[in-house]
Amino acid sequence: MTAKVPVLTIDGPGGAGKGTISSLVAERLGWHLLDSGALYRLTAQAAVKHGVALDDEPALATIAAELDVAFPVEEGQPRTLLEGEEVGQTIRTEQAGERASQVAALPLVRAALLQRQRDFCQTPGLVADGRDMGTVVFPDAPLKIFLTASAEERARRRHLQLQEAGVGASLSSLLKEIQARDARDTQRSVAPLKPADDAITLDTTRLSIPEVVDQLTELLAQRGLSNGI
Ligand code: DC
Repeated sequence: MTAKVPVLTIDGPGGAGKGTISSLVAERLGWHLLDSGALYRLTAQAAVKHGVALDDEPALATIAAELDVAFPVEEGQPRTLLEGEEVGQTIRTEQAGERASQVAALPLVRAALLQRQRDFCQTPGLVADGRDMGTVVFPDAPLKIFLTASAEERARRRHLQLQEAGVGASLSSLLKEIQARDARDTQRSVAPLKPADDAITLDTTRLSIPEVVDQLTELLAQRGLSNGI
């Protein structure tokens, strides 16, 4: 099944615009969306909720394997439920991202989430957003993008995003956190953040969101993966 359903993988560091771009492309094409970072964020959140230490790898792997999450869309609004409860923006804070990055460095946690991510691959297609979508989860994807931007630009964007969500944060501490998270995500031994050998790297530092979405839909159309909408 995985081989027949078209998959667009969008990997890259935090704050490069993957989330926004992925959901806009998925919406434009009518494809499914996998926000794999949310699964790591929710695993960390479930661990905190159940009093499990963020370095207890076997217990965290059990939490990941049994993760009770749902992503319903109600009246056009995507929701995220953990154990039946709406999590709202609580998984989007810098602290939640930091915790997600910690649990994501653990091989047993990554293994426990692998099949759950592959299950998102359903007709008519999938946009998969993460760090290892093109390298590990969907290695046969017909179009792989590595989306990046300078750390300063990513910190500025994250700052704006948090402000809009009503979450307070300082720009300089966001930059430090982004640099620390980049280091952990790229240096971990299992599924480190890196472009797949056959990925196209797109630096979005000077590109607007619509420009990136247009480039991606054009690439999909060029490869015969969509009808160019
Ligand atoms: O994309 P995000 O910021 O929501 O991801 C949160 C953390 O999860 C990030 O620091 C690294 C980790 N992650 C990962 O290791 N692999 C993925 N496919 C997605 C996210």
